[in-house]
Amino acid sequence: MLHILAQNNSLMNLFIAELRDKEIQNDSMRFRRNMERIGEIFAYEISKQLDYTEKKITTPLGVSKMNVPVSNIVNATILRAGLPFHSGFLNYFDNAENAFISAHRKYHKDGSFTILFEHLSSPHIDDKILILSDPMLASGASMEIAYKALLKRGTPKHTHIVTIIASNQGVNYVKKHINMKNVTIWAGDVDDELTSKSYIVPGLGDAGDLAFGSKM
Ligand code: URA
Repeated sequence: MLHILAQNNSLMNLFIAELRDKEIQNDSMRFRRNMERIGEIFAYEISKQLDYTEKKITTPLGVSKMNVPVSNIVNATILRAGLPFHSGFLNYFDNAENAFISAHRKYHKDGSFTILFEHLSSPHIDDKILILSDPMLASGASMEIAYKALLKRGTPKHTHIVTIIASNQGVNYVKKHINMKNVTIWAGDVDDELTSKSYIVPGLGDAGDLAFGSKM
């Protein structure tokens, strides 16, 4: 199952447009906040698919019955670009546990690269709802590595793979290399092209650099 939120008009389109816009994206505080706001909107959309139970709430005037979510959520993200996006999920899922995956691209002389996995910090994820977020789903290789690393901590009840901008190639790669049983992919928008260095076109550039500054 793939949900592309830009297919329906919403405020999220404006936030993605600002992330993409080269006149606006250099305001790194706004860039981070837009990623966070998009995380909040995804959290709200995903919340519609959680498990709920009826709870009786005592108000000053009586008792109200409300369906409230009861799912155990683990928010996972890939360092470092995922951090502001991750904060958006955490703003809404107050009691979620959190997981972080460190991985980086090691470039070879011919311009190709391999994703090197470095570190996983994660709770047990057995029977929980895993939300694995990465703002850019380019080649799909880091998402595969992150997901497979997390599976060493258990088998989630359901996994939501969430990205702000995906490439078609990245979506197809994930569908091919990840067992899609109990997995949903969510994208803000999907672009057609990838450069030879696996940057998404038109995309937005380097999300990590725009959020946190360039690195050596
Ligand atoms: N990561 C980014 O930050 N941008 C891309 O276009 C692809 C991967």
